[in-house]
Amino acid sequence: MFPKQFPKQFPMHRPRRLRRTPALRRLAREHRVHPADLILPLFVREGLSQPQPISSMPGVVQHSSESLLRAVAQAAELGLGGVMLFGVPQQRDATGSAGLAEDGILNRSLREVRAEVGEQIVVMSDLCLDEFTDHGHCGVLDESGHVDNDATLDLYAQMAVAQAQAGAQILGPSGMMDGQVAVIRQALDAAGFNEVGVLAYAAKYASAFYGPFREAVDSQLTGDRRSYQMDAANRREAIREVELDLAEGADMVMVKPALGYLDIVADIAAMSPVPVAAYQISGEYSMIEAAAANGWIDRRSAIEESVLSIKRAGAESILTYWAAELATWLRD
Ligand code: PBG
Repeated sequence: MFPKQFPKQFPMHRPRRLRRTPALRRLAREHRVHPADLILPLFVREGLSQPQPISSMPGVVQHSSESLLRAVAQAAELGLGGVMLFGVPQQRDATGSAGLAEDGILNRSLREVRAEVGEQIVVMSDLCLDEFTDHGHCGVLDESGHVDNDATLDLYAQMAVAQAQAGAQILGPSGMMDGQVAVIRQALDAAGFNEVGVLAYAAKYASAFYGPFREAVDSQLTGDRRSYQMDAANRREAIREVELDLAEGADMVMVKPALGYLDIVADIAAMSPVPVAAYQISGEYSMIEAAAANGWIDRRSAIEESVLSIKRAGAESILTYWAAELATWLRD
């Protein structure tokens, strides 16, 4: 009966016991994804009367002001944790002034969204200049064409106040400028917005997987962001970035991208005293969609597995373009 290789005095360990039926597996599951863990990134483009598909991200659109409100209302109704808004302006310039303007597409949309959903769902905004600059960089350039860290900080501080005035509850600085969390926190407090939080893109890596996002925001970028985003080779440095952002007052920290960086998510989850988010980015989305469209993988299982893996690595919150669809599956 008992296999010969097992000495009789020991029980034979059978991990498979807990895998035998769906009910046993459900009982034994260590991690599960809840709609409140999910944050839906949304793009709103100035001047659209209809939502416009993004060809490299099948299923994701650039919203019109009107369709954005419907998407946010649906996200609230599904019980998602939050929405993260990105604005795509009609006019761009060297300093990204449309990102700061009170009536710029992002700030206008934040006002409309808050008027629509109030406090039913957390409304977050991307705080970065790349969608608004004519060169596509996340900051302003100096005479030699390099991104000028400290000149950019002044603009981030103004942008933070404009977004808070428009009703954003959590700001997501994604430009990887040194000191950005500190200046944003100071500017918010000085303007009386001490309740507005900062979700710091603390460990954001320069990644080829942002490719489809560039179409999503009509990015004007030529070149790359390697002088400010992190090098994919670096693990230890992520801890330093998080420590700095915490010292500067970050309320939550993020790792981005997610799937190729689960070691980083796990490291940060182990040391962070504040909630940890991970961003499953455009290229991660498009790869699965493309493989599924070809019939090479099972779409739903691949999506669920990828998001669960990010949760298992230690992220409490996951930004994913599948947030709404996942939440409907979780209701099934
Ligand atoms: C910068 C920003 C980017 C993303 C979110 N915020 C682009 C970049 O850093 O190049 C990428 C998101 C994605 O790829 O899904 N504002």
